Amino acid sequence: MSEDQTHVQEFFGARAADWDRKFPGDGPAFATAVAEFGLRPGDRVLDAGCGTGRAMTALRAAVGPTGTVLGADLTPQMLTAARRAGRDAEGALLLTDVARLPLRDEVLDAVFAAGLIAHLPDPGANLRELARVVRPGGRLALFHPIGRAALAARHGRELTADDMRAEHNLGPLLSGSGWHMTSYADQDDRFLALAERPRHP
Ligand SMILES: C[S@@+](CC[C@H](N)C(=O)[O-])C[C@H]1O[C@@H](n2cnc3c(N)ncnc32)[C@H](O)[C@@H]1O
Repeated sequence: MSEDQTHVQEFFGARAADWDRKFPGDGPAFATAVAEFGLRPGDRVLDAGCGTGRAMTALRAAVGPTGTVLGADLTPQMLTAARRAGRDAEGALLLTDVARLPLRDEVLDAVFAAGLIAHLPDPGANLRELARVVRPGGRLALFHPIGRAALAARHGRELTADDMRAEHNLGPLLSGSGWHMTSYADQDDRFLALAERPRHP
């Protein structure tokens, strides 16, 4: 276990039991983001860094009974809370590091990642690993149920130009890791960047 992995598990392990109670009003923002993501019935989608699986009900509704929903998270307590909330009825939960997924190349249609990217130790390489498991033409959603400025204010910090999720940084980061950013929205009540895995890189 690396230092980064231990840090993630300690940080989120301590917060897992109360995670859903802390942000009770986020459900509609998740549902809207998943609807905009444009999944189709039968699609295979990974919720990367799924936590308690807050996106999984909307993801299952989008892909329907013939689709596949996987939730992957590094923190066991998050997956325990996901099971307690019944999210394992929506899809399979995997205890794994998304930096090294136990999935074959190009096996998925899409990856949805809420609140994940800021916690990745090597975002370029880690986003490339997400691209590896998605078919050409498949899609990525980077979502947060609060915008960058509101999140910075919540944490009492300044939003600086080097913020990884700023549009001028995120576009090149995605391009350098096997994705093409197709849309970007950063409002007070949500952040949603969508990207596609190009068919002809
Ligand atoms: C801010 S929480 C978001 C949880 C959930 N997506 C949500 O929006 O409620 C970030 C989650 O990412 C997980 N995580 C962070 N780094 C990870 C990694 N390398 N592999 C898998 N999960 C990771 C954490 O354990 C945590 O559950």
